[in-house]
Amino acid sequence: MAGLIPNDFIDTLLDRTDIIEVIGHRIDLKRKGKDHWACCPFHHENSPSFSVNASKQFYYCFGCGASGTAVKFLQEYDNLSFVEAIEELARSAGIEVPREEISEKSKQRQQQRRTLYDLMGSCADYYAHQLYQHPNATDVQQYVLDRGLSPEIVQTYQIGFAPQGWDNLIQHFRSEPTNRALLKTGMLTQNEQGRVYDRFRHRLMFPIRDIKGRVIAFGGRVMTPDEKPKYLNSPETPIFHKGHELYGLYEARKALKDFDNIIIVEGYMDVVALAQHGVKNAVATLGTATSETHVQRLFKLSSEIVFCFDGDNAGRRAAVRALSNTLSELKDGLQARFLFLPEGEDPDSLVRKEGFNGFMQRVKKAQSLPDFLFQHLQTQADVSRLDGKAKLASIAQGWIDKVPEGFIKQLLYSQLSSLVGLSVEQIQSNYTPAQPMIEAPEPPPQADYWMPDPIDTYSNDDHYPQRPRTNHHDISGKKLNVRIGFVHRALAWLIRFPMLAEQVNLSTIRKLPAQDDHLLLAKVIELLQNAPKKDVYFAFDYLCQHGLRETLAPIAASDYLWLEAANEDHQDEKEFARRELEKIITALTHRAPDDEYESLKKRLNERDPSLTDTDKQRYRELLKQRKQ
Ligand code: UTP
Ligand code: MN
Repeated sequence: MAGLIPNDFIDTLLDRTDIIEVIGHRIDLKRKGKDHWACCPFHHENSPSFSVNASKQFYYCFGCGASGTAVKFLQEYDNLSFVEAIEELARSAGIEVPREEISEKSKQRQQQRRTLYDLMGSCADYYAHQLYQHPNATDVQQYVLDRGLSPEIVQTYQIGFAPQGWDNLIQHFRSEPTNRALLKTGMLTQNEQGRVYDRFRHRLMFPIRDIKGRVIAFGGRVMTPDEKPKYLNSPETPIFHKGHELYGLYEARKALKDFDNIIIVEGYMDVVALAQHGVKNAVATLGTATSETHVQRLFKLSSEIVFCFDGDNAGRRAAVRALSNTLSELKDGLQARFLFLPEGEDPDSLVRKEGFNGFMQRVKKAQSLPDFLFQHLQTQADVSRLDGKAKLASIAQGWIDKVPEGFIKQLLYSQLSSLVGLSVEQIQSNYTPAQPMIEAPEPPPQADYWMPDPIDTYSNDDHYPQRPRTNHHDISGKKLNVRIGFVHRALAWLIRFPMLAEQVNLSTIRKLPAQDDHLLLAKVIELLQNAPKKDVYFAFDYLCQHGLRETLAPIAASDYLWLEAANEDHQDEKEFARRELEKIITALTHRAPDDEYESLKKRLNERDPSLTDTDKQRYRELLKQRKQ
């Protein structure tokens, strides 16, 4: 039995490990500036916001917040335990992992955990063996034949047979400590009188494996219609959590490197039959509804989930629950669709009738999540009536609001808007009263610039390629119209070098005309100045905690900044950044009268009722100045 790994060994190991090598071995890293970048392996994205820093030996995703050392990366990416990750790093470094003597107690605990997995593996072996060897196995063999299961598929899924009788497992293992472990894993059960007996009797057995392939539970099916319940599953145990696991996920991952999509079905037999007919990307929940955890796990493996349900009422109800648990995971780039099967059919029966092609045709035609959502909502509100439209507008919001900020959410709102004939703003403003989320800028204090003289080349935006306007950013709920350009660049530098915020005079920024992007910049600088630590990763997290993740993640991920910095052949990156930021803020200050003029002009054109006489006076002044 292996002892504990000494702490100082872990330090030594990390010293000898290069995180760039470890991660670069697994995903494609590109060097930009001081860091290496890639699309994050822990969430779906199209532009890289996953950074690896060699000097800190640390990775950080500006999109989803995943972060840690090489050990953590291996744990998450290779799905290893802490100890396994250490062992893996030691192997790469060519050194042996020393072990400390361990106490009897922790020895026992380790032994116990290992025992549970090993034991479940042995149970699966035992059942698999009985399927062909047990003297009374003719029934079950006939049943397997009747259900059309091929010997290969029986082997792939290690399908087995729990024979009739109360104590087959007990007799098989014949050891008191093993019986206790079997009780823990739910393979044995105990009645009120304290009698211990086999949970699974006379059933066709489906081992449930975790993502690493370890058997953690079983589902057992009866072989005659009058026995109950039809499927008996292992209870929750220290190694099995229903709401987390998916039947067939290990086998699917083993069979396929990449998934275009993952199909979620309801039953063990469905997964197995689909696989036998070549549909190897199907998994099943374990007699529970699809949970958010399930959806999260699957979206890490594939950008599309296809839910497959029976066409009856129960299937519809299950689909609505799945829908509700998917919305909160639906980031841009991810998709979900819903496939409803004809009454009386399930994937198992259908794939046998229609084959691989027939089934895949149906998958192709599955209903999109937005379609299904609106169809479902319209069963609750009749949009041909005015009051029905009002009802739809109000119930739909609760659903759509679960979707993370992004294009999908905006499109869902647009769709709702066209269904009910109200603008998106009208719908949203009636739901939660609009509230200003950013404090109004303070009245301009006395100038106190740290800026040097303005630099001409930065005095207008033409110097930089004009970036598209982002039309939808969100600071804790309020929509912002953030212009990309100088402010975007300033934010990017500040995210990269949060300590620079200390040197910015906040009042300079607050004196800028009250536009969304200026307010955002002021907000970020203020937060960074108050952030307890100015370390890049910590500071970014701090901004995210203040509701800015949606707004800042794309900026943190934008790469033109690093390319530019790399071209400059500068010695000191931070000094370079400081100068850039300085230039940008000077340019912003210079541009302020133009900005102010444009913004007032816009408000005048739009007949903004909040426009005061002073504003109008100011507009005339600015207009005069411009004509000079
Ligand atoms: P179904 O009753 O739809 O069965 O249960 P099925 O998958 O079509 O099975 P066959 O084709 O009759 O063998 C679907 C799933 O619901 C769970 C199981 O996970 C099953 O695969 N279930 C069903 C239970 O957990 N217990 C039950 O008693 C019934
Ligand atoms: Mn079935």
